[in-house]
Amino acid sequence: MLEMVQITKKYPGVTALNNVGLKLNKGEVHALLGENGAGKSTLMKILCGATPKDSGKIVFEGKEILRNPSRAEAATVGISMVFQELSLFPQLTITENLFLSRSKGLFKWSSLDSISEEILRRFNLNIDPRTKVGELTVAEQQLVEIAKATKDGARILILDEPTSALSDNEIEKLFQTVRKLKEEGLGIIYIGHRLNEVFEIADNATVLRDGNLIGRVCLKDCCEDDIIEMMVGRKIENLFPERQPAKNNEVVLKVSNLSKEGLFENVSFELRKGEVLGISGLMGSGRTEIVKTIFGAIKKDSGEIELNGERVEIDSPKTAIKNGIALLTEDRKTEGLVLGFDLTQNISLPSLKSFCKKCIIDKKEEETISENIVNELNINPPLMDRAVKTLSGGNQQKVVLAKWLVRNCNILILDEPTRGIDVGAKKEIYTIINELVKQGKSIIMVSSELPEVIGMSDRVIVIYDGRINKVLEKEELSEINIMRYAANKIAI
Ligand SMILES: Nc1ncnc2c1ncn2[C@@H]1O[C@H](COP(=O)(O)OP(=O)(O)OP(=O)(O)O)[C@@H](O)[C@H]1O
Ligand SMILES: [Mg+2]
Repeated sequence: MLEMVQITKKYPGVTALNNVGLKLNKGEVHALLGENGAGKSTLMKILCGATPKDSGKIVFEGKEILRNPSRAEAATVGISMVFQELSLFPQLTITENLFLSRSKGLFKWSSLDSISEEILRRFNLNIDPRTKVGELTVAEQQLVEIAKATKDGARILILDEPTSALSDNEIEKLFQTVRKLKEEGLGIIYIGHRLNEVFEIADNATVLRDGNLIGRVCLKDCCEDDIIEMMVGRKIENLFPERQPAKNNEVVLKVSNLSKEGLFENVSFELRKGEVLGISGLMGSGRTEIVKTIFGAIKKDSGEIELNGERVEIDSPKTAIKNGIALLTEDRKTEGLVLGFDLTQNISLPSLKSFCKKCIIDKKEEETISENIVNELNINPPLMDRAVKTLSGGNQQKVVLAKWLVRNCNILILDEPTRGIDVGAKKEIYTIINELVKQGKSIIMVSSELPEVIGMSDRVIVIYDGRINKVLEKEELSEINIMRYAANKIAI
């Protein structure tokens, strides 16, 4: 159905793609895999007309697409993409979002609404099309994006990391939709970092590394380790390195009866020096809201917070940071980064005061310190004056981590720290976490990836419907155990 041949794309200082090829059959789900910055999103942006290529050719259903098409032109021939960062307008309704590109002429909204309703029904979405997109869950938004991309008879659908913000149930629903589209004969290109999901949904895979094509494989004939080796060029062993237990260390943070109406109730726990405390729970159970409240970004209704035995009133993120608490937010695009700022500006932002000499920022020191952390975390490309929005998703995530490492807080709250991060970089982040706790820092880690929670935590708090349902000690940690307490109310 589709063949991309010798595609090359260069950005100043970076070769994003070097003579890369890809083939896709009708009714195939084809995974596009590779480390952060390998060139996956760029290759797909070229295919859907969002970015021009430098050279190479694209043959679609036997005909070469002659020049660099616009997105609208690519969509007209049937190629559509759902981007890594969702692109719906939250303040517009579903119908308005679906028909936004049809910007000429007069519409009758009521008839568009009923067309929308039909489209939504196809995707098993029982929602009023007049609902504002901002009121939908991320999973519903994802399905609306797919509906939008396929409604005008798409032949090829590209999904760039569609599951990174979805819960297990929602992923299953998404996969059902993908399978249905596959049966209808669409060719689907699927980018993802979670290999178990890739093996579940995809038939074949193309692997890229540093802008080069490494190979194309049939997934039935290989295992996860084979793919990882192709992606990173080496074997990854011991993803979760050993660490000293922190059982008897002193308590640095004590949270007592923290409540916020409608979000969570009576949350109490202690965090020890040198400890990694995992917080697990289903999406929407209140995990993120609890940590945001500790960080002062949500105002609590009641409850107390003690730091090193002393009561503190944390009423804003500013006070939290002053008290040595950092929060790496789960949504890097809207809460973690200033997308138009460059690497140095983003990294130094929470620490600007420490770079000030008599109210003037010491630019040299700001740059040196930012550059050091960029090298330490292997952020790629290490070009300090590049706007972070031009970095690949995973590298953007590392910039968020970098800014908090420079701030040197004693308590680091990480909300989904490895979202969109490749396996090699994951291991780097786990090693950094271990290094931090060894230095005596304490970490609270919210994560939806159970292997990560189990591999990294000393203890895990399991949240169900805004309450702590269970605290699991290291020796009790297993996927089944966590899921049991995350999915059901169990009286303790
Ligand atoms: N607009 C741009 N300007 C400059 N460089 C860019 C731009 N877009 C992408 N790049 C660079 O091209 C390379 C490939 O990026 P791309 O986003 O395709 O990676 P990716 O494989 O999708 O990674 P991830 O898994 O992290 O999303 C990276 O080095 C990136 O920094
Ligand atoms: Mg990408």
